[in-house]
Amino acid sequence: MKVPLLDLVAQYRSIKAEVLPAVQAVIDSQQFVMGPAVQELEAAVAQLCRAPHGIACASGTDALLLPLKALELRPGDEVITTPFTFFATAGTIHNTGGTPVFVDIEPDTFNIDPAAVEAAITPRTRALVPVHLYGQMAALERLLPVAAGRGLTLIEDAAQAIGARRLIDGQWRMAGELGWVSAFSFFPSKNLGAWGDGGMMVTSEAALAERLRKLRLHGGAKQYYHDEVGTNSRLDSLQAAVLLAKLPHLAAWSAKRREHAAYYAKRLAGLPAVRPPAVGPCNEHIFHQYTLRVERRDELQAHLKAKGIGCAIYYPVPLHLQNCFGHLRYRRGQFPEAERAATEVISLPVYPELTRDQLDYVIDAIRGFYT
Ligand SMILES: Cc1ncc(COP(=O)(O)O)c(C=O)c1O
Repeated sequence: MKVPLLDLVAQYRSIKAEVLPAVQAVIDSQQFVMGPAVQELEAAVAQLCRAPHGIACASGTDALLLPLKALELRPGDEVITTPFTFFATAGTIHNTGGTPVFVDIEPDTFNIDPAAVEAAITPRTRALVPVHLYGQMAALERLLPVAAGRGLTLIEDAAQAIGARRLIDGQWRMAGELGWVSAFSFFPSKNLGAWGDGGMMVTSEAALAERLRKLRLHGGAKQYYHDEVGTNSRLDSLQAAVLLAKLPHLAAWSAKRREHAAYYAKRLAGLPAVRPPAVGPCNEHIFHQYTLRVERRDELQAHLKAKGIGCAIYYPVPLHLQNCFGHLRYRRGQFPEAERAATEVISLPVYPELTRDQLDYVIDAIRGFYT
């Protein structure tokens, strides 16, 4: 049996009849850039996030870059984030003139540790960028008061977490609902994936939404008049049409991922070498990734690969140890939880179309390796 890490062909087969006419409609209209499908998608994603404004852009990276640009960081301004994330989180801070300041993660959720954030704030701190890693929201109920109390801006990196929720003060809050701006990615492998690159910013502030709309169009609301220097970060109508066709399926796909996660957790229980992901009762995880902590991780990965099972390491090198951030002078050992996670994590197939036989095959392969 073969179990790929992700099977987008299986997803495509199940929605072909809905998505192809939507794509054909864009082709027939010949409105390829920022057509009506883009506005429709902006409204639909904003509604999902319970945020009034959605601003589509070319990638999840740009969805972080543009709000960071709007902060007008000066040399030496610091932005606190996690070292255990995809590179774009910190790369965009650097590319907008800020200094990424890394702090350690919580060992159970892999998300940024709010106590460590508080301890890292200096007079130069301007913003916090928590990441909802693997599809589970970070502790916003602790981070938002810290940001508000210290006059800092909070940008949610929700690239992996569309549709995730967290119970905050007795209310379920969506990923993207509470941040100053929240960034989503539509990279094809995401729970809501385009047929190419795409991204979305959501915000509650009307004036900020206008500014972000300008920044993605070379800084001008009116063609050939530029209020500030922005960039080209438009979303293609074709991508918007694909995403709109997929969006009605998102909740069921994420529920299926949760079902697979629960099955893995049940059948892997009792193996001391394997720790399934922890999901707090205050979190509705969307399992963009199903990520275990395991002993002898690299050997397990080789074993699974030999059995035709796709798996991956997200992420093998924490960002404070990346060569490109050598000038920031972080040391190995400085963030022990992030560094330990980088040596212990392994992500398994969890896509919605997995069959019970495939799940059992993966589980038996893991059990066979440790017993
Ligand atoms: C946590 C995180 N932030 C940002 C991004 C950037 O998104 P994109 O690949 O769409 O530019 C990703 C994408 O993988 C991500 O996982």
